[in-house]
Amino acid sequence: MSDPKDTNQAWGGRFSEATDAFVARFTASVNFDQRLARHDIQGSIAHATMLAKVGVLTDEELHSIQAGLSEILTEIEDGTFEWSVALEDVHMNVEAALTAQIGITGKKLHTGRSRNDQVATDIRLWLRDEIDAISTELIRLQQGILDLAEREADTIMPGFTHLQTAQPVTFGHHLLAWFEMLVRDQSRLEDCRKRLNQSPLGAAALAGTTYPIDRQMTAELLGFDGPTRNSLDSVSDRDFAIEFCAFASILLTHMSRASEELILWTSAQFNFIEMPDRFCTGSSIMPQKKNPDVPELVRGKTGRVNGHLIALLTLMKSQPLAYNKDNQEDKEPLFDAVDTVKDCLRAFADMIPAIQSKKDSMREAARRGFSTATDLADYLVRKGIPFRDSHEIVGKSVAYGLAENKDLSEMTLEELQQFSNVIEGDVFDVLTLEGSVAARDHIGGTAPNQVRAAVKAAREALSK
Ligand code: ARG
Repeated sequence: MSDPKDTNQAWGGRFSEATDAFVARFTASVNFDQRLARHDIQGSIAHATMLAKVGVLTDEELHSIQAGLSEILTEIEDGTFEWSVALEDVHMNVEAALTAQIGITGKKLHTGRSRNDQVATDIRLWLRDEIDAISTELIRLQQGILDLAEREADTIMPGFTHLQTAQPVTFGHHLLAWFEMLVRDQSRLEDCRKRLNQSPLGAAALAGTTYPIDRQMTAELLGFDGPTRNSLDSVSDRDFAIEFCAFASILLTHMSRASEELILWTSAQFNFIEMPDRFCTGSSIMPQKKNPDVPELVRGKTGRVNGHLIALLTLMKSQPLAYNKDNQEDKEPLFDAVDTVKDCLRAFADMIPAIQSKKDSMREAARRGFSTATDLADYLVRKGIPFRDSHEIVGKSVAYGLAENKDLSEMTLEELQQFSNVIEGDVFDVLTLEGSVAARDHIGGTAPNQVRAAVKAAREALSK
């Protein structure tokens, strides 16, 4: 039996045998939580600064801790730091390195805190920085969509319901629908940041600490809005990680919808857009292929992000207060959700501005699908025909058009008049695609000038 003192573990004092080698590996998190190192050190410096202010550490001890931690951070960032699985996690790796470097003072850093409040602090600090980076990328994507929407404000395409041609819309208007989804995502992200920005530091293991700590001070040093209010909740709350993953799932759901449309539109059957080659790949067997891999992958990545949300919800379900080792499982799903969101946003933000619309083909698709049938029905209503009757009249005109292979706008006045004698020459104003979209001229409508106004308002809102 090995001497537990040999294991260099923080809790060796109570134990009479060393941790089983497999158990040590099974319970260790350092292989993934080393990602928190910079924020762990940031939290430790704030904690030590506070300990010195309240008289638990001397100024000399504080300076030695600060110098040691910044040296360790340099080693970590240079890649020269030696991580040890025997030291379990990022927190104990850093602390052991500090003690190795500055001696006994290093052992004083953990006074008045626990890894429980430490890790809760670290993840919040880490996620807060990631949220800020994600927010920047989300805004870049939104701006790209607005620019494209403005360029395509007059481009006519079919609007769909049930994926059947419904009414003509402008491509710019369609893009602004994507934009609105992202506006809500941005606001969810801001909400998540607001709620996570409370400092759990000082909750210690679960009940608080007997040292005269100043939680307000550490909260301020770390840029938190204030300290959390309940120590038990502080060490066990992972709502912010769940909330982030919920944001990520909804965002990816939105991006998967846009992806699906891009994939359809690049197909020969739709032929609505051209995706630059640099966002596509070919086939190793079919020489003619150009595949929209980027949107396909984004669509596919929605699955893993949804998985992470469910993983975290399940992780927290029924957990008794306060900290449980289960919580160590919060990191990998959260890390991967963050990485996936960043990559998908980057791919989209780069790709969207490069999309070229095939205006003739979009227009032809709108024309082919009797997309102005509702406009004819509305025209008849304006001439005094009840809507249900006008619906019937237009239905017959469409049936005639199908048989004759003619769109409504291609029929002669005489042909149209067979279905209703109230139809006059002015009917062609509403049967054209341009007339149809221009007539939907109200807030949220598809008229080109509404699209331009919406882009302008959105740009102003984004710059605030
Ligand atoms: N590696 C741990 C985690 O990620 C740190 C906290 C450990 N606390 C404890 N009491 N074992 O949650």
